[in-house]
Amino acid sequence: MDGIFSKNLDGSRFDLLEDKERHIYAMPLRLEESTIGAFVVYQGASHIRRQLFKIYRNTFLRVLVQVFLISLVTLVIVRWSVMGPIAKMAEWMKQLRAGELSPPPFSLPKEDIFAPIAREVTTFARHLSDAKAAVEEEARLRQTAESLWTPDRLKEHVKTKLQGKPLVVVSNREPYMHVRRGRKVDCIVPAGGLVTALEPVLRASGGTWIAHGAGDADWEMVDAKDRLRVPPQDPQYTLRRVALTKEEENGYYYGFSNEGLWPLCHIAHTRPLFRAEDWAQYQSANGKFADAVVDELEGVEDPGILIQDYHFALLPRLLKERRPDARIAVFWHIPWPNPEAFGICPWQRELLFGLLGADLIGFHTQFHCNNFLDTVDRTLESRINWEQFSVVKSGHTTHVKPFPISVAFPDSFQDVLPENPPLDRTMLLKELGIRAKYLAVGVERMDYTKGVLERFRGIERFLEKFPHYLGEFVYVQIGAPSRTHIKRYHDFLAEVDAEAERINWKFKRRDYRPIVFLKRHHSHQEILPFYRLADLCLVTSLHDGMNLVAKEFVAARSDESGVLILSRFAGASREMRDALIINPYDAEQMAEAIHRALDMDPDEKSARMKRMRETIRENNIYRWAGNLITELSNVRLPDVASKKS
Ligand code: G6P
Repeated sequence: MDGIFSKNLDGSRFDLLEDKERHIYAMPLRLEESTIGAFVVYQGASHIRRQLFKIYRNTFLRVLVQVFLISLVTLVIVRWSVMGPIAKMAEWMKQLRAGELSPPPFSLPKEDIFAPIAREVTTFARHLSDAKAAVEEEARLRQTAESLWTPDRLKEHVKTKLQGKPLVVVSNREPYMHVRRGRKVDCIVPAGGLVTALEPVLRASGGTWIAHGAGDADWEMVDAKDRLRVPPQDPQYTLRRVALTKEEENGYYYGFSNEGLWPLCHIAHTRPLFRAEDWAQYQSANGKFADAVVDELEGVEDPGILIQDYHFALLPRLLKERRPDARIAVFWHIPWPNPEAFGICPWQRELLFGLLGADLIGFHTQFHCNNFLDTVDRTLESRINWEQFSVVKSGHTTHVKPFPISVAFPDSFQDVLPENPPLDRTMLLKELGIRAKYLAVGVERMDYTKGVLERFRGIERFLEKFPHYLGEFVYVQIGAPSRTHIKRYHDFLAEVDAEAERINWKFKRRDYRPIVFLKRHHSHQEILPFYRLADLCLVTSLHDGMNLVAKEFVAARSDESGVLILSRFAGASREMRDALIINPYDAEQMAEAIHRALDMDPDEKSARMKRMRETIRENNIYRWAGNLITELSNVRLPDVASKKS
């Protein structure tokens, strides 16, 4: 105690007292000038310590929460006012770079820290937009001025007309088929005009081709969505394969399409066969393709769809019902007969109603368009406008127009065979075990509509009438067996074999036979030397929508020589006016035409070939596709019109 009061007594402090910490508060008691005593309070210090600790802790936590809240608010403000605009601006600039000249997705700040950069970006966007408009205008002017259609021009055209939306093409036959050969899988390009015509269009425009996967190794090559990129060596577009059951393939493809509609539309004197079970499969397969198209178009607004051929008469209506915003065109690759002939089909009303779901229907010739409208007129209740060539059925308008199909001239064969080394006819024929001075060629899918038997009879007549050509003239028939599960096709192949055999027997010399029948699928690469080295090419269809062999032959003749003998019943005869036009049923006329071709003055040959090449240069496959797409994009869909107005 003494110790305590010997020091300064005023105030409070902690001290150790009897080994325990105490709090001591002392107040001196004074009387006049002297201290007479002291008032001292001392107590245990622990509860005071506890109290103090509580106060410090609470203050610390309060400050911590405040710091956290202030940081959070600052972050939100920075994100909202700085990073947000920067991210949006970056996204916008990315779009500008990709060529989408959209307005900025937010109002650019004028007065704050972003003002200088915002001004610069806006000017940059304006310049980019002006430059793009100038380039587009230049391209448009070039388009109108130039008559030549190229893959690049088509690509640009498709992009402009479809406003960047991908093109979807539907056909039964696929452009690349995978087939198993032993342990190997081969990729082949099927024979036929449709694939020849559409492949360059898809290469030019990109997009998706939906087709039946008919190859036995097809399903080993696709991804989980049944897709693969093609051409396999240089992928440029997507092929989506549709699987059909055996029953569907039999009823829809072999039965209804090829034993029914094919002979119905080709006047080639083979009876069409219509069976209810085939019709059921035709409906089911059209439904399956509709599902695949709708699936491919998910998320794509106002798409453009090009449907190919007689396998899909019901598809336009099925698609229109599910995607009214789609622009739909059908191209019918085979002839359309007159109403009496078409009336044979028990389901003609359903087929016409299905087709009229399209906005546009294309045929090769005006004559087929006339036949189609006549058939609609006689069969369905509808309003036909003969001036505009359109039909209104159930409030929907379908336009009908001719689009003569063609080949990819001038680059049809560029990728398959270089010009050098020069081709040699003697070598080519030697490989086939023959010798001849004059060479004629014919190339087809072995089909009874192609007039092959009539052609053989024409050749026979030629050799009878002009026997000095015996031993010198050889005809090579390149024939890909086709649709051989159908009896008529199977029998036809046998008939062609027998007829070649009969004629060869008749004119046989020691190492000479006039007809060489190469009965297998040939690639473009294998066919091209025959086109290039032949004196003449024979196309003698009994009835044909267009016939692209005629145009391929002309496209292949960069030497401006060779003569085309062409049936007047093929659509191509309307354009290839410098061919020698014949009636394939008239063997005498065909014999004379062969003789005239072999005898023709080289200058006349060259003048004729030049003019035909000019025609297909002008009217190549890119123009065909370009015209089809222009017409399709001109279609005014009722809902689209109201959306825009
Ligand atoms: C020809 C016809 C096309 C048809 C194709 C079918 O090219 O002109 O209209 O689509 O043959 O042949 P395919 O072998 O597929 O039955």
